[in-house]
Amino acid sequence: MDPLRRLMRLVMARRSCRAFTARPIQEETLDRIHEATTALPSVEGQQSGRAFLVRDPDMAHELVDVLVTGFTSKINIWLARGERPPAFVVCAGDPERSPVKEGRYLYNVDAAMAGEAAVLAAASHEIDSIWLAAIGERRVVEFLGLPKGQRVNSLIALGHGRKGGLHDAVLQKVVSGRRKPLSDIAFDGRFGVPLVVQPPDPTRRAAAIDLYGVHDGHVDVSLPPPSHAFEGLPDDDQLRLVLDAARWAPNADNAQLWRWVVIREHGVIETVLEAAGVPGAVESGSFMLIAGCAAPVLIKHRTKQQPFALIDVPIAIVHQIAMASAGGLGWNLLVNFNYSQVGRALGLPRDHSPVALLMLGRPASGEPPPWQQML
Ligand SMILES: Cc1cc2nc3c(=O)[nH]c(=O)nc-3n(C[C@H](O)[C@H](O)[C@H](O)COP(=O)(O)O)c2cc1C
Repeated sequence: MDPLRRLMRLVMARRSCRAFTARPIQEETLDRIHEATTALPSVEGQQSGRAFLVRDPDMAHELVDVLVTGFTSKINIWLARGERPPAFVVCAGDPERSPVKEGRYLYNVDAAMAGEAAVLAAASHEIDSIWLAAIGERRVVEFLGLPKGQRVNSLIALGHGRKGGLHDAVLQKVVSGRRKPLSDIAFDGRFGVPLVVQPPDPTRRAAAIDLYGVHDGHVDVSLPPPSHAFEGLPDDDQLRLVLDAARWAPNADNAQLWRWVVIREHGVIETVLEAAGVPGAVESGSFMLIAGCAAPVLIKHRTKQQPFALIDVPIAIVHQIAMASAGGLGWNLLVNFNYSQVGRALGLPRDHSPVALLMLGRPASGEPPPWQQML
């Protein structure tokens, strides 16, 4: 079994868990999950967003009462009714230190990427999880004793899932068990142009598990540092799996707001990077760009400062990085750029917006480039 498909099995095995058991999580496993939260670099090296663990079961127990306070958080009341998760990941940010571009607080990107790194590490150790954005944020911040002004954009509950719970099974099927086909969300060079390299992309989770096979044992999830130079594009099979890994990422309300524009032609890459205001990045050799976009960004808000676009797209990009790395590919990422100009260069509809430009290719050696944003 090649490493890409082994990882795809793990990606398919992860699903949001809405029924936990009382079984605690081993300390060594929590250590591995903690390490994963620090694996990825941060926007401009500011570390303005982060993910950290609440690993004391008593504190996790109390955190449940706190997070379900408030009107919208009532949809998560099931957390207080059943066995409570023994640990949480907190995705937090500091708006004061955050790079801000065109009104976007980029701490959200750091926090979301660190959170999903934790989710994948948890899955690789047979620990179930669920992202929770419907939380009483103010009370959560107070309870955790975070410094004044800090924000929490999501929590992730961790634990051993109770198999066969009715609530879990129904929600999984109705809310979570489906995805749009890639033909609806991935384009070639420009928004709206169908991508010819398309995997068989079943829309039902069960059919996707049939396609890739059942996860059966530990898989290491590797999230290497960004590459400084590239010497060749991913092949079609690698691209297919990178896109499919993102398609099965967790995302708020299963709204699947991601759209991916894959850019392989050197001239178009040059135009897009110029529009982004990062023309120097084209010097880093032979690579592919995947523009991670969100649609529609204006109506999907967690809070005004924490739009789901800035959480869901980075989460899916962590899946893309992990899959690329399983295929021996390197990555780099731009998130602080001229969004409106790139949107025009990609032909995005007006209610869509680019969020990130992921560079993928066979890694080559090189000096850290001056344009690098993930540090
Ligand atoms: C940022 C974010 C916030 C979420 N918030 C909640 C939540 O508050 N309550 C909930 O039950 N599920 C929540 N989810 C889980 C999604 O509903 C779930 O990921 C989606 O339906 C896809 O299902 P899957 O994770 O099983 O693949 C959230 C997911 C993300 C990524």
